[in-house]
Amino acid sequence: MKNSQKIIILDFGSQYTQLIARKIREIGVYAEIFPYNISQEKFNQLNPTGLILSGGPSSVYDEKAPIPSIDVENLKIPILGICYGLQLIAFKNNGKVDPASKREYGKAKFIVDESDPLLEGVDNKQVWMSHGDSLSSLPEGFKSIAHTNNSPFCIISNTERKIYGLQFHPEVHHSTDGKKILANFAKNICKITDEWTADSFIENQLKLIKEKVGDDEVICGLSGGVDSTVTAVLIHKAIGDKLHCIHVDSGLMRKGESDQIEKLFDEHFSMNIKVINAEDQFLSKLSGVSDPEKKRKIIGNEFIEVFDSEASKLSSAKWLAQGTLYPDVIESVSVNGPSATIKTHHNVGGLPEKMNLKLIEPFRELFKDEVRNVGRKLGIPDWFIDRHPFPGPGLGIRILGDVSKEKADLLREADAIYIEEIQNAGLYNDIWQAFAVLLPVKSVGVMGDNRTYEFTLALRAVTSVDGMTAEFFHFPFDVLEKISNRIINEIRGINRVTYDITSKPPGTIEWE
Ligand code: XMP
Repeated sequence: MKNSQKIIILDFGSQYTQLIARKIREIGVYAEIFPYNISQEKFNQLNPTGLILSGGPSSVYDEKAPIPSIDVENLKIPILGICYGLQLIAFKNNGKVDPASKREYGKAKFIVDESDPLLEGVDNKQVWMSHGDSLSSLPEGFKSIAHTNNSPFCIISNTERKIYGLQFHPEVHHSTDGKKILANFAKNICKITDEWTADSFIENQLKLIKEKVGDDEVICGLSGGVDSTVTAVLIHKAIGDKLHCIHVDSGLMRKGESDQIEKLFDEHFSMNIKVINAEDQFLSKLSGVSDPEKKRKIIGNEFIEVFDSEASKLSSAKWLAQGTLYPDVIESVSVNGPSATIKTHHNVGGLPEKMNLKLIEPFRELFKDEVRNVGRKLGIPDWFIDRHPFPGPGLGIRILGDVSKEKADLLREADAIYIEEIQNAGLYNDIWQAFAVLLPVKSVGVMGDNRTYEFTLALRAVTSVDGMTAEFFHFPFDVLEKISNRIINEIRGINRVTYDITSKPPGTIEWE
């Protein structure tokens, strides 16, 4: 059962489309994204309460401009057009859209010409503009309710038909009260009262999972990451001991991580968990391999093999639970450029096909932040939920060049000191991801009276929103100094520590 009241967002290829959905969900209203060319039949089945037309890179004059297949003009529900969405509404209603002589990009302030429920409580008028074409005469039946110095028609409305158009992007951070405008559209204009909250999601899913699974048994692979952890805890709440969790320790996990996972599940949640130590198997397959993509493939294949052989012992299991998220399943639109999807990596694909199990993916509709909230509501401790992301191939892609147990142990110890000092300095939650990288470079040093010739360690710490772009973190020097001293004094085998000051782009977050 989904929330019955919902907003549908048609994606015309804007890089911000997912943000619109996230912002609306943060308000407590359910929203889903579909490609602009969704069929009328499917749209009718969805039975939305309101419609948002996203921005996009096209001009309405382009020969291949994306035009919705549904009959937007004759819908009887409120509509909000954002940027390209506004131009589309204007174009369809005989307004005049001027092709861009130059783009308007950046902050602007609007001035309200007429009060409207869309603008209730919107005190800060700063908004973010990013458009080429702009409106130069009003479409029929519309009036302007706000303007800027550059644009006489910044917000337009047809109050009778409940259609609105915004020249700016309310969904981006720089539009200070943009979320309030989206909330007003959902609550004042669409009159949505159904609450979309972590509690309502959990309640609905518990029912759904019970119905779906019945008396069958379910298997869940636990990587130690947030998505698979919250998936397992939710399913356990629904079906108890019929859930069997498997964690594969590849020998490439962080220090103490597999023990922590076992403790959390076994002791804290009293769940069935089997931890398989497959370190030797992984490391022997990786021996002598230095190409990053080959390493990723080997680790992925090994993982499937170990997991599959363990899972096949549970012959009564019919389902495989996975922590798939909404950004992985949104159909991306290919207008001039597809809407940005969060980078997905060649992780452990292929499991369900090989295993002949039915899939259960309770978070297919959720964004990562929402999964975190569900996890908190389910009683998963904050230290676990707020952990930095960790890539599937683990330390395998943080030991540059060939991988060995000695190097993995060295890196594990150094990484643990690094993270501990970040926590001691109270900086862990200010950083999106921090980790150490072991370089295949040895250099000369002195320790006491002795010459050393040991490995070099690179430290990486970045701030980011979703990993697509990132800035290196500005550490206080005394924190870096303490980290470096501790690593060199406490770890035999590393005699030099460097800090990576590359942002993404042009760098990537990981080194391999
Ligand atoms: P990059 O290095 O591409 O990383 O800037 C962006 C985010 O993705 C993570 N990452 C991976 N995650 N399997 C994963 O599950 C991988 O192969 C992989 N490679 C990078 C990286 O840690 C960062 O959070």
